[in-house]
Amino acid sequence: MVVLAAGKGVRMKSRTPKVLHPIGGRPMLLWALAAAQAIEPERVLVVTDPRQDGVNAAVNGQAVTVPQREPLGTGHALAQVTPEHRGDGPVVVIYADTPLLRAETLARLVEAHGKSGAAVTLLTARLADPHGYGRIVRGRGGAFKAIVEEKDATPAERALQEVNTGVYCFTGSALWPALQRLENRNRAGEYYLTDVVGLIKGRVQTVAVDDPDEVLGINDRRQLAQAETIVRRRMLDQLMEAGVTIIDPQTTFIDAAVAVGQDTTIHPFTVLAGDTRIGRDCAIGPYTQIRDSTVEDGATIERSHLDGAGVGPRATVGPFARLRPGTRLEEGVKVGTHTEIKNSRIGPRTAVGHFSYIGDTTIGADANIGAGTVTANWDGFAHHETHIGDRVQVGSDTIFVAPVVVGNDAYTGAGSVITEDVPGGSLAVERTETKVAEGWTERYRSRRRAAAQKEVGQP
Ligand code: UD1
Ligand code: CA
Repeated sequence: MVVLAAGKGVRMKSRTPKVLHPIGGRPMLLWALAAAQAIEPERVLVVTDPRQDGVNAAVNGQAVTVPQREPLGTGHALAQVTPEHRGDGPVVVIYADTPLLRAETLARLVEAHGKSGAAVTLLTARLADPHGYGRIVRGRGGAFKAIVEEKDATPAERALQEVNTGVYCFTGSALWPALQRLENRNRAGEYYLTDVVGLIKGRVQTVAVDDPDEVLGINDRRQLAQAETIVRRRMLDQLMEAGVTIIDPQTTFIDAAVAVGQDTTIHPFTVLAGDTRIGRDCAIGPYTQIRDSTVEDGATIERSHLDGAGVGPRATVGPFARLRPGTRLEEGVKVGTHTEIKNSRIGPRTAVGHFSYIGDTTIGADANIGAGTVTANWDGFAHHETHIGDRVQVGSDTIFVAPVVVGNDAYTGAGSVITEDVPGGSLAVERTETKVAEGWTERYRSRRRAAAQKEVGQP
């Protein structure tokens, strides 16, 4: 099994190698690699350009990489496979820029090849818009004649709608000698793998793909977006089949690696990305973005942003909350409107209800954090920690100047700036006395009115 993943990818107009562009949150190459591995071949080789940053790293030892040092075409790429890997048996070749291909289709191709005794079995597709693909030219009686690349095709050939998908099953003993005889006399000056099909000794067989979406080749950003739409729809269908309610698939974006539990409802305008796990019976969204986070059963997240956060069972978050990396909410926690939490653990059933900032903090169970509470955790050089005990009642607009420790069952008075540790069971207030000037409003207003009249009255 060989995956071709080198080449220039010029049409992407990108500084990132084409095969690393993600679809459904996962590099294109890894989709192709997963399909290759799913049919359990003896070995998987990936042809890469060693100068393209990050490609070998993405393969990450999951397959043997074979270097193609110059992008001289798909035939040249396959010719880089060294003699030790050139078996006589079936050799499946796919392109890394065809990430939607299903393993079932590959298996069907290999099976058809095995049964037929052909020298090569090609996967073909009939496309409404065949532009850019190599066309399948057939002779009288429909027998396969040749693959003609778009660049080299006559107008009549361009009108053909049957295309080469770039998915092949060769018989090794016929492939390797034919590959040696490949030439580059064509418009692109490249060694075309498609020409091997004409050079090979033995019969050429074709198998048609059922679903043309599978063989979409990604050459430019428009095709990248098309692939994204297809993958997204596949992912949403899978989740719905598994018992997840998706109110509006049009505005729901879920990466391929995300897991969502049964009877969870995803509301519109929601993005679930990266390594994210959502439990059962949750309500997520609307207008919510969750990345690399875990949300446990029965939690509710509304109009919020989560990144690297853990949300415990039955917790409620939002609307308008932001949970940053290292946030861990235990069971039944309530995080309310315009609250930001970073690198902090909030104990069971504690509420952080309204416009607070909690950073580098631990809070115990059953505490209540009043509106507008801020942990001042950064002194310009280092972060400092705040520790708040169980059942603590934090008055509104308290500022904790970290490092500071507040014992269990303590209270802080509203508006206090807490700069010292507060022992358990005590009240800490830091506030000047309220002065009341009785009748002040009337005195003030008459003074202002008199001044205004004086101004108007002047000639
Ligand atoms: C290729 C086929 C075309 C087919 C289409 C299907 C050839 C000559 N043409 O055209 O018949 O309809 O795919 O999508 O094969 N690559 C290398 N080294 C190279 C060049 C390419 O490894 O020197 C890899 C690329 O990473 C890519 C794949 O081969 O994944 C296909 O190359 P690309 O240039 O995209 O071929 P197409 O023009 O799309
Ligand atoms: Ca292509």
